[in-house]
Amino acid sequence: MLVAPSVLSADFGRLNEEILAICETGCDYIHVDVMDGHFVPNMTLGPVVVQSIAKLATKPLDIHLMVDNNNFFIDLFAPLKPEIISFHLESERHPHRLIQKIKSLGIKAGIVLNPHTSEQSLKYLLQDLDLVLLMSVNPGFGGQRFIKNVLQKAKNLKELEKIQGAKCLIEVDGGVNESNINNLKEAGVDIVVAGTYVFSSGDYKKAVNSLK
Ligand code: DX5
Ligand code: ZN
Repeated sequence: MLVAPSVLSADFGRLNEEILAICETGCDYIHVDVMDGHFVPNMTLGPVVVQSIAKLATKPLDIHLMVDNNNFFIDLFAPLKPEIISFHLESERHPHRLIQKIKSLGIKAGIVLNPHTSEQSLKYLLQDLDLVLLMSVNPGFGGQRFIKNVLQKAKNLKELEKIQGAKCLIEVDGGVNESNINNLKEAGVDIVVAGTYVFSSGDYKKAVNSLK
């Protein structure tokens, strides 16, 4: 299992230390949640802060946009050379065009699905995607309870991938911890995002390892 700790749950008063400490674990990505106060009722990291995270991080960045204006934020973050940028299908009128744009910038393109959005809505996009991020909470906040129907959605998505011969990573975000990690693995999930579970554990290495 690949693990992407979410900096949203880090102590922002000691962000440098937190980034260095999390990069010392066996984690695979640093998950960066970007919120605009419109698409979701919260605001998080702007380009100045993400830039300092990018400078410090020794692990690739996995940027999760939760915004109305995806184009604007992609232009803002692309120069930081993240490994992945994912945007919500629910916030985009022209997802196919946006996938091409992200890829043309040399970045892996992902689409995020809210809990109510069916994997079938990706039927005509799957071939072009590098990653699908399935929300297992409603986006906007850390520390929420895991919504179990994501497990069936991940299985259905895996099936759809097989039928189409598509190869994209499946990532799950929200409420991930040791009680659901085995079910996520069994459902075919490749990457889990973990905020609260890792950052409130007291031992980041141990927490990341327990998910891996
Ligand atoms: C929620 C964010 C998540 C959040 C996960 O909108 O997308 O990445 O940080 O936090 P936990 O693991 O605490 O649910
Ligand atoms: Zn996220």
